[in-house]
Amino acid sequence: MSLNTKLTRLLGIRTPIVAASMAGASGGALAAQVTLAGGFGFLAAGYDSPEKLQSELEIARSLLNLQPHDLLPVGVGFLAWQLELSGAPATQLLSVALDNNVRAIWLAFGKNLKHWVNYIHEHNNKRGNTDPVLIFCPVSSVEQASVAVNEWRADVIIVQGIEAGGHGSSQSLPLLTLLPLVTAAIGPHGPPILGAGGLVNGAHAAALLTLGASGVVLGTRFLLSPESLYTDAQRRALIEADSSLSVRTMAFDYARNTLGWPQGVDGRGLRNATVEDYERGEDIQILRSKLKEASLKDDTSRIVVWAGSSIGLVNKILPAREIVEEIHEDCVKYLRASAHLVSSA
Ligand SMILES: Cc1cc2nc3c(=O)[nH]c(=O)nc-3n(C[C@H](O)[C@H](O)[C@H](O)COP(=O)(O)O)c2cc1C
Repeated sequence: MSLNTKLTRLLGIRTPIVAASMAGASGGALAAQVTLAGGFGFLAAGYDSPEKLQSELEIARSLLNLQPHDLLPVGVGFLAWQLELSGAPATQLLSVALDNNVRAIWLAFGKNLKHWVNYIHEHNNKRGNTDPVLIFCPVSSVEQASVAVNEWRADVIIVQGIEAGGHGSSQSLPLLTLLPLVTAAIGPHGPPILGAGGLVNGAHAAALLTLGASGVVLGTRFLLSPESLYTDAQRRALIEADSSLSVRTMAFDYARNTLGWPQGVDGRGLRNATVEDYERGEDIQILRSKLKEASLKDDTSRIVVWAGSSIGLVNKILPAREIVEEIHEDCVKYLRASAHLVSSA
């Protein structure tokens, strides 16, 4: 059984389930397993070196059983502000992804995103029209969506609600409000529009498709797979957490010294001692040294564990392939069941 949406047709996939690009959490194994299950997986370049990105892409290629020059049916996500740092190996990183023939590039959180979009378009133009690299852009407002579609010609838009784990706009609307606003503004002839933020199961996927999305993007749910790059301690913290622990904060960026995000961006993760110390105005150097010490011990009472608002709905670790299959099957089940709600009486 497959699902048929603008996204599945664009990518030639069976189910419109996408594993988000997650810096520090999604590598080649996670991306490949999601693709193998019939969805589409991103791996995150995040803060990685070109060598690390190359090795994760090789993991994906080998799991997908592909030869070096075959198209690689996964995507790579970049944190554009990292590419924009002075002295950053931006073109090497992008070349690693493009030379590996990845199917898509995810561009987020840049001060000059248009520059990177143009870079990919130039690559596509040089290569001719065969299998262009698709550009995925997360957006958190109607204005951003209009720019991404009309000015940048993005191939896929990801509408990221306030519920989303990891980084996002602190001012974003809830997904159930933002998605219909964006679909109405873009209209029926635009690119596939996906929803992200707090989606963890098949009922969520069915609800989003009913709302007009062409697919769903899940981050937190895939952290709870053995393929994610999260540690066992981080996965345990996620299993134990309820949704009240998922908070938006800048605490971890101050403590980790990752402060180059565009204006208005913060991160959603599990509230712990780092967040509490930050909120009561702890000295930044003390915050940093406590975090450094905790990192050595993988101590989740201080280190960052990013998590979306639906974390309380997830309580098991499953292989990424099974996560995709479970969500897909439940989604089909809920879509079918919804037809029985309609009566001609
Ligand atoms: C651990 C983690 C890391 C993330 N890293 C990135 C990233 O590198 N780039 C990005 O655009 N979004 C990132 N995000 C946000 C995801 O793209 C996505 O919007 C979010 O995970 C969706 O919400 P959910 O976690 O509730 O499923 C990250 C999310 C998590 C949980």
